[in-house]
Amino acid sequence: MLVEWQVGKLEEWQSDAIIFFVLEKETEFLPGFKKWLSTEGMWLSESAGLQDFQGKVQQTAVFYAPDRRRISRVVCAGLGPADKFDLDRLRNGAATALRKCRDLQLNRVAVPLLALEGLPVERARALEESLIGGIAGLYRFIALKTRDVEPVSYPETLLLLTEEEPEANLRKAVTTADALVSGINLTRDLVVAPGNQVTPTFMAEIAHGLTESYGIRMQLINLQEAQKMGMGAFAAVAQGSREPACIIVLEHCPSGTEGDPPIVFVGKGITFDTGGISLKPSAKLEAMKLDMAGAAAVLGAFDVLGKMQIERHVVGILPCTENMPDGKAYKPGDVIHTMAGLTVEVISTDAEGRMILCDALTYALQYKPAVIVDLATLTGACIVALGNETAAIMGNREGLVEQLRAVGMEVGERLWPLPLWDFYFDYLKSDIADFKNVGERSAGTIVGGVFLKQFVPDEIPWVHMDIAGTAWTDKDTGISPKGATGFGVRLLVETARRWPDIKGR
Ligand code: BES
Ligand code: ZN
Ligand code: MN
Repeated sequence: MLVEWQVGKLEEWQSDAIIFFVLEKETEFLPGFKKWLSTEGMWLSESAGLQDFQGKVQQTAVFYAPDRRRISRVVCAGLGPADKFDLDRLRNGAATALRKCRDLQLNRVAVPLLALEGLPVERARALEESLIGGIAGLYRFIALKTRDVEPVSYPETLLLLTEEEPEANLRKAVTTADALVSGINLTRDLVVAPGNQVTPTFMAEIAHGLTESYGIRMQLINLQEAQKMGMGAFAAVAQGSREPACIIVLEHCPSGTEGDPPIVFVGKGITFDTGGISLKPSAKLEAMKLDMAGAAAVLGAFDVLGKMQIERHVVGILPCTENMPDGKAYKPGDVIHTMAGLTVEVISTDAEGRMILCDALTYALQYKPAVIVDLATLTGACIVALGNETAAIMGNREGLVEQLRAVGMEVGERLWPLPLWDFYFDYLKSDIADFKNVGERSAGTIVGGVFLKQFVPDEIPWVHMDIAGTAWTDKDTGISPKGATGFGVRLLVETARRWPDIKGR
């Protein structure tokens, strides 16, 4: 969708529809809406329909002028009560309004800047967040449909209406929102697309595309090289797949940042998780194409870092492979030598995520990172604990975990902390190796985190996010239509933008 400014007098604004936000239980409308109602929108101001509109969350209403005008449709989007207002509600309100416009097949839809007046957020921020919500909410994955799709994606244009030439920070809000949504949607495309298309090789091709667009550097490590480097755990998972595995290493290093210790993002890139020899049951197995959502979020974030030319040194490490049962597959009982030199007894080949991640974490240490953030669809237990709306966050710095949790609340990617106390390590005690790759059923998500913690020295700030629940949604929710959510992209981008302010103690 195209976003365009339309600068001119209020009476001259022109579009197929105009969008306004309404707070619930207020005696008065927001000041910008009031202003419009008292001039161009006179026809609407006295209507009973408008009086009846309650402005509840996710509620929309469409009003039609009695005659043809420059603007003859008004779409109202409810934001809920003022005292519960937050950016999530604004994003979701914009998403609902624009989806309504799409249903009506409207082509040029307008948001007047004055619709954002009176909200308890700074105007540029309100604009940025409502654009992100509105545009990301229109996402659809139609690449594999050959019929039954409309030739036009409504609305084609979003007009930003204003009486005065917009200030630089407002213009910047538009480009920022645009960059973020394209990163989020890149991640979504990769996660929804099936495993026969999104192979490790395909992931590498997408990464390669980023190097061409933004001068991001890339290095590819194939299975043989990984084995030579001692990445026995990554190799153990990869050896069971006929699809060539790889570790993608990306480096975003704008001039002047070369000397800075990098922020390192690590993403789980299992392009399909059958469980391996510890085969998963077949019900809902198709869902396991999502198991590269961590790696996809890192790619999406790099797309944004490149597009926005964010002045930070950032490295991405994406171990990518399928997890398959095969004559050469690793087996329960095998003992694996990790790159760190630690030995792991495989209990379940279905705990493959931590196997590929532990070597990726060890590899990350070469960069002497300022911080490591890893993202992984690691455990089904995380969905049991937190559902599909909240991801789990764990790490070795409480302050950092808390800062990231707060960032997540702001950008609509909810995180909740779980502890990594030392006694949880007892769950992994092995009789013949340094430790096992799984414990019993209890504390599954924490145990996954504790496993990874073995590979990160205490001096290096590190967080692990388990996004098993949040990477996917089975129903349309706010800014995320049914399917892949793109979870993590905003968190990673904000981590880079705000570092070191969010370092914590
Ligand atoms: N990829 C799965 C976790 C998962 C489950 C992600 C559901 C998204 C939705 C992971 O590799 C896995 O199989 N985890 C095991 C861990 C267990 C063997 C300790 C699980 O959750 O059962
Ligand atoms: Zn997995
Ligand atoms: Mn698994």
